[in-house]
Amino acid sequence: MAPVATNEAKQTTDTPDIKARVADKVFNPFYSPPPTDSESVDKDYKYDHFKPSFPNISWEPLGDIEVTERALLADPSKKNLLSAATKVVQLTPAIGVELEGIDLRQLTDEQKDELALLVAERGVVFLRNQEIDIYQQLELARHYGPLHKHATTGIPKNGLEEVHVVYNDSTRKPETASFSKIELWHSDVTYEAQPPGVTSLKVITNPPIGGDTLWSSGYALYSSLSPGLQAYLEGLSAVHSGVAQAEGNRAAGLPVRRKEIESVHPLVRVHPATGWKSVFVNPGFTRRIVGVPKAESDAILTFLFRQISDNPDFQVRFRWEENSIALWDNRVATHSATFDFWPATRHALRATPHAEKPLSVAEYEKATGKQAKDRQLDIWKQQGIDVSSVAVAGVASGKSRYND
Ligand code: SIN
Repeated sequence: MAPVATNEAKQTTDTPDIKARVADKVFNPFYSPPPTDSESVDKDYKYDHFKPSFPNISWEPLGDIEVTERALLADPSKKNLLSAATKVVQLTPAIGVELEGIDLRQLTDEQKDELALLVAERGVVFLRNQEIDIYQQLELARHYGPLHKHATTGIPKNGLEEVHVVYNDSTRKPETASFSKIELWHSDVTYEAQPPGVTSLKVITNPPIGGDTLWSSGYALYSSLSPGLQAYLEGLSAVHSGVAQAEGNRAAGLPVRRKEIESVHPLVRVHPATGWKSVFVNPGFTRRIVGVPKAESDAILTFLFRQISDNPDFQVRFRWEENSIALWDNRVATHSATFDFWPATRHALRATPHAEKPLSVAEYEKATGKQAKDRQLDIWKQQGIDVSSVAVAGVASGKSRYND
């Protein structure tokens, strides 16, 4: 389980020895800010102006944000986008597609909308050799919604407040004693009232080996559950908290630019463009299920978190190259970076448009008059596959034949 910021951390950060202890407690690559002593590394670094900075500024709380769902405007065949690609490689049945031959700088508005639909359907879309610069990346992201400004992570030294900087170098070795890998799985800033949708990350400096990112499909997780558990989870909501990230900054003596918040979101949300149901919890930010005994909440969240992190059938793993870009739908995919590349440098820039307030199954069905669907069943139906007539391996005999 992810470490929850405690009252202890709130009360005791003023004395140096305790401050160090609190910092140690939250010191992991996810809750703790990146190195601030990285100035000593490679003074001629060509992307020095994109290294993280932590200006002491403060922003107002976010209000309601108006968003147009661009994927709903797309041609369902996505012909404008797909016909421009030289190759379309589906990476796993559940999640991930790589497009070749597309230059993101050249997309028309129709193609951008179709890209949003592809991202919504496949969870994450990868493109390599993209010359798009950060200003163009922000412009593309703005097509999908007003941009989120992160309250705690570094912004580039050149002051682009809407950019989230991912930066690690030799000055800080990941403190593996302080965190387990499961804690690193997250969807971005789900504690916000309107968490992001089509999120893009471009790697500008890549380690020679390592630093891959994994994504796990919330649609596939939903589809894997029994009908009884699906129905139960559809009626629940969960608390997502930004407290631990804010405490990480305070413990490191860095500013928190917007007061931390917690939001309650449906545990199963429906993507407005696909109409597919997706489990919407993540180890990074989801703290408890509302209105059920704590033991039950802990057991269910632990089960779902483990499925996200452990079940390879839901996942795709991407080996980045310099100038690769990933666009994922943060509503329906959870991701985790690997931290296996120290002492090399890894540097990436993220643009993060807000999406709608998450819709529960009941809210989606009321608002649209349509029935929300299970992605896997919907795909099989479109393929003319009658699931009811197919025997399930291992179920009748009670034995799986999967050990060979
Ligand atoms: C992120 O969490 O947005 C960054 C993922 C990565 O560094 O690969």
